[in-house]
Amino acid sequence: MFHWLEKHPFFFAVGVFVAIAFAGLIEILPNFAQASRPVIGTAPYSTLELAGRNVYIKNSCNACHSQLIRPFKSETDRYGHYSLSGEYAYDRPFLWGSKRTGPDLMRVGNYRTTDWHENHMKNPAAVVPSSIMPAYSWLFTNKADIDTAYAEQLTVAQFFSVPYNKPVPMKDGLTKVVKMGKSVAEAHALALEEAKKVVADMKDQDVKDAVARGEIPEIVALIAYLNSLK
Ligand code: HEC
Repeated sequence: MFHWLEKHPFFFAVGVFVAIAFAGLIEILPNFAQASRPVIGTAPYSTLELAGRNVYIKNSCNACHSQLIRPFKSETDRYGHYSLSGEYAYDRPFLWGSKRTGPDLMRVGNYRTTDWHENHMKNPAAVVPSSIMPAYSWLFTNKADIDTAYAEQLTVAQFFSVPYNKPVPMKDGLTKVVKMGKSVAEAHALALEEAKKVVADMKDQDVKDAVARGEIPEIVALIAYLNSLK
């Protein structure tokens, strides 16, 4: 039969397609059951973190940074546990990236702090002398887009049952509730409350003053997002 197939390219191609499609299905099907299940310790993004995630996307940070730790010793030694599919359950879209000009950022929240990010984003070379990462000074004056982040939250909560305002299990055995505002005004208030905690560890006076006035500069949202990557 295989001899016959080899002489009939069309049927051979069909056979190859069937074999690959079958193998593909065997690989993919178990993931439908598993992949969308968040692993314990994965919480949905708060409004401020989502706004920061949008700053990350808008500035193409993902062009130079991956968020995907591969299961190799060299990577796990440097970045921590390799990435699990369930950790991306609330990432829409995921930001795996395809190129590492800079380091992976999947768990950067475990080893960098708010003030480190503040100094680094303002002038990377001042923190890491040989850095080729560009400075992002405009993040200190541009305002974060809380409205869009809130609209996203509403959508994912409705269509993908993202558990906002519900307890989600954490690694320490406790639970965490990520709040989502019932109105745009409440979403702004929640984001501001969180922003105040972030700026407490920052030193840029203009940024601090802006938050005190009730505004949220992009840098604050971005740092909240980077701190959430664990
Ligand atoms: C042109 C490529 C490039 C772009 C774009 C870029 N980075 Fe980087 N990034 C780097 C390089 C190279 C490093 C390593 C040197 C350093 O620490 O500055 C780095 C380092 C970092 C680090 C430190 C990570 C660690 O483990 O020490 C963080 C955090 C970071 N970048 C965040 C960002 C964010 C957020 C953006 C978007 C606003 C961004 N980067 C955009 C190239 C880039």
